Amino acid sequence: MSNSISMASYSFTLNNKPVQIDAEPDMPLLWVIRDLVGLKGTKFGCGIAQCGACTVHFAGTAVRSCGIPVSAVAGQKITTIEGLAGNHLGETVQQAWIEEQVPQCGYCQSGQIMSATALLHHNPKPTDADIDIAMQGNICRCGCYDRIRKAIHRAAAIQAPPATLQKSLIHA
Ligand code: FES
Ligand code: FES
Repeated sequence: MSNSISMASYSFTLNNKPVQIDAEPDMPLLWVIRDLVGLKGTKFGCGIAQCGACTVHFAGTAVRSCGIPVSAVAGQKITTIEGLAGNHLGETVQQAWIEEQVPQCGYCQSGQIMSATALLHHNPKPTDADIDIAMQGNICRCGCYDRIRKAIHRAAAIQAPPATLQKSLIHA
């Protein structure tokens, strides 16, 4: 008796590069990224879209890659934590993370950074409430939430310095 689910070929853009893989249509994007493409920065936590460890950007929005079948990303643009290298906002967020010494064990952090980057892309000056809403799906077992919030504010300030500093930069 043959397997009822058949393999198919899927093409999409991953970190600005074209990717083509053969997979069953319901294979989670997380499996594709880690096991078929070999990028290990995106983490497996719960596997049921509840912890945020596997967060990537799908057309610029933060999504849980464990909950998205590969068939849904055909022709789409996906970015993982590796794809933030060379991206101004992504590097700003990572620098702020270092300066605020955010991580403890580090396991959740790539997902946290992907959600934070998507937030700042859509909302360059988020309030505490905006941050709490945007980040609520990213669980940190080590409880780094205060430092995550501070790092997001720091990244926002680097991106958009206060008006007085902007003036002095303009007139420098
Ligand atoms: S592994 Fe995807 S949300 Fe937990
Ligand atoms: S830093 Fe350990 S789970 Fe977040």
